[in-house]
Amino acid sequence: MRRIAVLASGRGSNLQALIDAIAGGDLAAEVVGVFSDRSRAGAVERARAAGIPAVSLRPRDFDTRAAFDEALFSRVDDVQPDLIVCAGYMRLLSADVVEAREGRMINIHPSLLPAFKGLHTHQLALDAGATEHGASVHFVTAELDGGPVIAQARVPVLPDDDVERLSARVLAREHPLLLATVGALVEGRVRLVDGQVCDHGRPLAAPLQ
Ligand code: GAR
Repeated sequence: MRRIAVLASGRGSNLQALIDAIAGGDLAAEVVGVFSDRSRAGAVERARAAGIPAVSLRPRDFDTRAAFDEALFSRVDDVQPDLIVCAGYMRLLSADVVEAREGRMINIHPSLLPAFKGLHTHQLALDAGATEHGASVHFVTAELDGGPVIAQARVPVLPDDDVERLSARVLAREHPLLLATVGALVEGRVRLVDGQVCDHGRPLAAPLQ
């Protein structure tokens, strides 16, 4: 699992963490392509700056979500990735493209899943009065943010937190979390077996921390 494709819609700090870890010799992998639904995404610029091929397609050029996904994932398939990492990819994925890649596609999500799926997770955590928040990396399944969780990072919610402070605290933990999880997948230590996350061949009792 050495060849990594990254899907990203936004600023691309998680992508940058992968690029830097690989350049620094801390992750034995290669980002072989970056794929986006937004041509102006920071992630696309970061990819190009690192000499990584970047492809962006415009959703409005396609009639349906499925047609867009098929076109984008046909470009993903062209680079023959072993692992597909959704790192701030903000579009829903159609079931067909997900199911065809189960066990080979992961997503980083800014909450302690199963809490706070979807968007605005930091605001939701504050509104709920949560005392703990964080990030999760999970295998992607057809259910939005509902696939088996591989690893989580926890942060406290502090009394004077707002979305900005809380999201910055979570993001700082996302990068090492993503790197550790991708490392475990690249090494073949962690894999999805019959819908369960296994570490060294044994089902996880709880997400890796
Ligand atoms: C990250 O916080 C990631 O967890 C979140 O988007 C941000 C992307 O930041 N992903 C989602 O909300 C997915 N539903 P980045 O572009 O700097 O990596």
